[in-house]
Amino acid sequence: MLSSNRDQFTSKLGFILAAAGSAIGLGAIWKFPYTAGTNGGSVFILLFILCTLLIGLPILMSEFLIGRRAQADTVSAFHKEAPGKPWFLGGWLGVTVSALILSFYGVVGGWILSYLFRAITFQLDGGSEAHYGELFNELISNPVEVIFAQALFMFLTVFIVQGGIKGGIERAGKWMMPALFIFFVLLAIRSLTLDGAIEGVKFMFVPDWSYLNMETLLNALGLAFFSLSVGVGAMITYASYLPKSETITSSAFNVAWMNIAISILAGLVIFPAVFALGYSPTQGPGLVFIILPAVFEQIPMGSVLVIVFFILLLFATLTSSISLLEITVSVFVKEKYAARRKLSWIVGAVIFIAGIPSALSFGHWSHITIMDKSIFDFIDYMTANVGMPLGALLFSLFAAYYYSTKITQQELNLSPAMYWIWRASVCVVAPVAIVTISLYNLFA
Ligand code: PHE
Repeated sequence: MLSSNRDQFTSKLGFILAAAGSAIGLGAIWKFPYTAGTNGGSVFILLFILCTLLIGLPILMSEFLIGRRAQADTVSAFHKEAPGKPWFLGGWLGVTVSALILSFYGVVGGWILSYLFRAITFQLDGGSEAHYGELFNELISNPVEVIFAQALFMFLTVFIVQGGIKGGIERAGKWMMPALFIFFVLLAIRSLTLDGAIEGVKFMFVPDWSYLNMETLLNALGLAFFSLSVGVGAMITYASYLPKSETITSSAFNVAWMNIAISILAGLVIFPAVFALGYSPTQGPGLVFIILPAVFEQIPMGSVLVIVFFILLLFATLTSSISLLEITVSVFVKEKYAARRKLSWIVGAVIFIAGIPSALSFGHWSHITIMDKSIFDFIDYMTANVGMPLGALLFSLFAAYYYSTKITQQELNLSPAMYWIWRASVCVVAPVAIVTISLYNLFA
């Protein structure tokens, strides 16, 4: 793809799938279950849905608006729309935060590859419950395997991005998402019919109000941003490849509901099984990797289906990681240089190296902690709970206050009532919520 003649999505469906592909990934399938698990379940889930709809979605619309109007990467977009003003710094913040996210995202992507390898060689079945926990711990603490797998995952990510959006990004989304959805429904049915599954359902839907506090709220907000891909300019970048004639509002709604649906489905696969099989919901990043093979164990042909499942999971993860890499690559691939290829490899290599400490933080470097967190957890926490909210705040303020009402009305093309709901969110609800929640957690 040469930027002098910017690539565009060929259809609206292509764009929705790419945007949904960016959103739906580890956030919904890996992070949602384990964060819900450590934050008490139901109340967290409720807050997550509210944050997604009331704050994340309006900001997603703002990013779409900025990107489609500017038709430029996330830094140039602000230079173009607000020349001579410091808004472009928000773009650089997005670049930095997205690169940091990708640094640990690549590690988890690597875990998926490792599991896929084990599934293909039939090493995942036949274990006792304890076996799956051991398997995960063994894997994440083996430095050679995690770094090799992380490198391979980053290689795949760069390989797709260097081909440009039409070749890679648009095509990948078309069949993967529906397939993943069907799989999750089947798995949820199995999980829900296990003996004792009802405890998991209660954990998800019967509120335990003792968890209603500012920390849970910050985690829910951070996850809403992370799983919608907002706050780092990913959606500005993707929308910049959207022809001006396409509507953005329905795309944003579609991305938001699909993301919530997959998250809840993932929860319905994981939590009933957690309780039925006697695991603990609070075990953190390993939760999904430990529970899923155990659920497949309970299914006829499970050892074959688990292979297909990890392939789909790999695709879902790749369609997100490519959007993370695309943010930085598109910023550096400027008009005259046809350097997408080379730049993709360089940026990918730098991010891979930056991710090595995260990869090691479950094994050799597990003794290194920052603010009581492992390196991996620290970067995860800082990006989702500080970097993304700050970026989201800047982008929503830009859309709300820098553009005139006439422009935003025209661009969003909403009914008057919906338009004012959007405005109320980006002008008041989102900024007040982000600032209050962040400051409270910083100083309380
Ligand atoms: N939304 C992606 C996921 O849930 C992660 C992501 C965050 C992608 C920010 C792009 C930008 O897996």
